[in-house]
Amino acid sequence: MLQLNNICKSFRTNQGIKTVLNNVSLQVKKGDRIWIAGESGCGKTTLLNIIAGLVKADSGLMIERKGIDLTDESNRAKYRYDCIGVVPQGICLISQYTVLENISFVLRMHQMSKEQAEKKALNVLQKLQMEDLAFDQVKRLSMGQKQRVAIARVLALEPPIILADEPTSALDDSSSQLALNLLSNVSSTLIIVSHDRDVASICNRRYRFSDGTLRDFV
Ligand SMILES: Nc1ncnc2c1ncn2[C@@H]1O[C@H](COP(=O)(O)OP(=O)(O)OP(=O)(O)O)[C@@H](O)[C@H]1O
Ligand SMILES: [Mg+2]
Repeated sequence: MLQLNNICKSFRTNQGIKTVLNNVSLQVKKGDRIWIAGESGCGKTTLLNIIAGLVKADSGLMIERKGIDLTDESNRAKYRYDCIGVVPQGICLISQYTVLENISFVLRMHQMSKEQAEKKALNVLQKLQMEDLAFDQVKRLSMGQKQRVAIARVLALEPPIILADEPTSALDDSSSQLALNLLSNVSSTLIIVSHDRDVASICNRRYRFSDGTLRDFV
């Protein structure tokens, strides 16, 4: 459903040009659950941002199913909207909105009615045992609670591809197990950056990112 061929990405830094992705290739098939680990600063978030269509690669090819070329910005924008849901490393919620509003807002952006969106949001919050937080403003939540809201948001959206960047980093064991159980039961293809072995255990393909490229995790 998605093919990355020889993707390269460098950044200009005070020390000069830093190559972060060096000929990364990856074939993602529908239903894959991909786990990516790697040292801090090695380029995992950059890779997810490229797969999300948020950052453009310097070179290489990214092709969606049916051969659509994602190096083209307008193709990338449509693909982002149609196919991608993200649990970002920085969580990225609207702090003055309630938990329910944060989730239903994204669903409404995808043409769902207010009633349907709120119903779906509440349903996912119940599954995550968070319904008591539905009407709380996000700015009053703990880090772990915010992380669960970001997970709830992507679960409610049910996009074809879920990209999650350290989604369990602030969660206790039982919240993490609950979230992973829900993630492992979605039909979405999963690409998860994490150091958490419990996350690895719900995935069928495991990689270590190092020296700018993906290697099989052994
Ligand atoms: N926009 C940018 N401009 C310059 N350098 C950047 C930019 N984005 C990322 N980098 C650099 O690219 C490298 C990889 O960053 P990235 O955030 O992808 O790492 P990471 O593997 O996700 O790290 P962590 O595990 O700490 O989240 C880092 O050295 C970072 O400083
Ligand atoms: Mg990162």
